[in-house]
Amino acid sequence: MSTGYAVRCRQVEKVFGAGETAVRALRGVDWDVPLGEISMLVGQSGCGKTTLLMVLTGLLDASAGTVEILGEALHALRGERANRFRLQNIGFIFQQYNLLPALTAAENAALPLYAADVPRRAATERGRALLHTLGLGARADAMPVELSGGQLQRVAIARSLINEPRLIVCDEPTASLDAESGHAVMELLRGVAVSPDRAVVIVTHDNRIFEFADSITYMEDGRIVRRANGNGSASFRPPSVPDRMH
Ligand SMILES: Nc1ncnc2c1ncn2[C@@H]1O[C@H](COP(=O)(O)OP(=O)(O)O)[C@@H](O)[C@H]1O
Ligand SMILES: [Mg+2]
Repeated sequence: MSTGYAVRCRQVEKVFGAGETAVRALRGVDWDVPLGEISMLVGQSGCGKTTLLMVLTGLLDASAGTVEILGEALHALRGERANRFRLQNIGFIFQQYNLLPALTAAENAALPLYAADVPRRAATERGRALLHTLGLGARADAMPVELSGGQLQRVAIARSLINEPRLIVCDEPTASLDAESGHAVMELLRGVAVSPDRAVVIVTHDNRIFEFADSITYMEDGRIVRRANGNGSASFRPPSVPDRMH
């Protein structure tokens, strides 16, 4: 474990729209995400989890408050520098896969390496190797249109992990995976998160993966209401979570 933080949010607010139809999605969020850990974020549908992930990675600007990622104040990063910082340091695993339809699975997985000027053949081989680890080796040369939802999700996960970003942010990463693939993904993420200078943040309501959490943070109505420590081991049982959660 490390004493540093991957993310520090202070009094973060996010308002969508204006006037009578304004939605206050985040209402003063203070959150410290430690390095060297898997932090899970849970809460009912609409409570602001996805918004918080987007604000803390700079994909959305906060309406108020401050966000620091890996020691960098987000508001100080703009334009091309912000994009480069994100590309090098943050891996995103979101519900939409956004794969390129004209590239094979291995090529899609290797995309961040192409962008970082790794020679194409070596990059594609690394993509292929990571797909193998995720149980998708046999489909490495398939096109996206030939893959199932769960397979597409694993390609997207490989793409997020391939350049070994220091911060990995996931929104329901195992929702469309069977138990075995979900477990393989979590093992991979745990392997990443145990590095003292890296961190994983996961929004989830999949209780099959709570056992991997070092901590679980609960959100309600745009606020963080509770944080429970886990131990990242199979013996950890988090408090029960309402079934309405989605
Ligand atoms: N782009 C947007 N425009 C307007 N309202 C939004 C937008 N994104 C999210 N919201 C609203 O913000 C609130 C939080 O949404 P979200 O962060 O997606 O919640 P969760 O991920 O916890 O389900 C919801 O009321 C949602 O309708
Ligand atoms: Mg969401």
